[in-house]
Amino acid sequence: MFQCSIEAWTPKLRCFLPRPTRNCNRNSTNGLLPDAAMRLDLGCGTGWASRRMARMASAGEVVGLDVSDEMVRRAEQTSQEIMNVRYVWGSAEKIPAPDNQFNKVLSVESFYYYADQGQALDELRRVMAPEGKLFILINLYKDNHYSLRWVTELKVPVQALSEAEYKALLERHGFRKVEARRIPDRSPSPDVYSGKWFKDAGELKDFKRIGALLLIAEK
Ligand SMILES: C[S@@+](CC[C@H](N)C(=O)[O-])C[C@H]1O[C@@H](n2cnc3c(N)ncnc32)[C@H](O)[C@@H]1O
Repeated sequence: MFQCSIEAWTPKLRCFLPRPTRNCNRNSTNGLLPDAAMRLDLGCGTGWASRRMARMASAGEVVGLDVSDEMVRRAEQTSQEIMNVRYVWGSAEKIPAPDNQFNKVLSVESFYYYADQGQALDELRRVMAPEGKLFILINLYKDNHYSLRWVTELKVPVQALSEAEYKALLERHGFRKVEARRIPDRSPSPDVYSGKWFKDAGELKDFKRIGALLLIAEK
């Protein structure tokens, strides 16, 4: 439901290309992430973005983290051929990693699930390297009013802030160079809509025109 058009924002992933670093080690779990971890996919789900980042990288490591062990299991299952990606169970509010670890953090369609978004941002600042960059992509936010219809349908509580509120939150939690961009979904739309989320094809088009919110910030 919340998958936005990958094509619309995949070019942004280019900024996650890890710098050439050491070898990764898929078996070196034990609760803590190893020093080699450079990119974090927070709330990775089944890991499609982690895999994509890992495939684009010539060296280094991508770590996918999710609070659902089922998601971590599925991500691991579908990533067995990729040696520079690893999945870890954990919560955004208590990230199992040492300080100053990640140069880049990506979080797709996950941030609104965090009960304490401020605590998640404090944790992100702790685990991010100095001048590390944070990218949060969400389709569910106040300025895309269509997305608010889903709030009551979801089985778990979600936080829906506006672009301005997210920017203020990031700044309050010590992030610098905070910016927000809209990522419209330019994929083709049907002429007739028969699903349950929109009244008609016009609404679906308008939802896609408003697009996802991409928040970018620096530690
Ligand atoms: C809609 S899915 C998106 C998954 C993936 N990023 C994607 O784009 O397909 C949201 C994910 O966030 C995870 N999640 C929710 N709350 C979380 C938390 N507090 N810490 C870490 N992950 C969380 C869920 O388990 C779920 O896998």
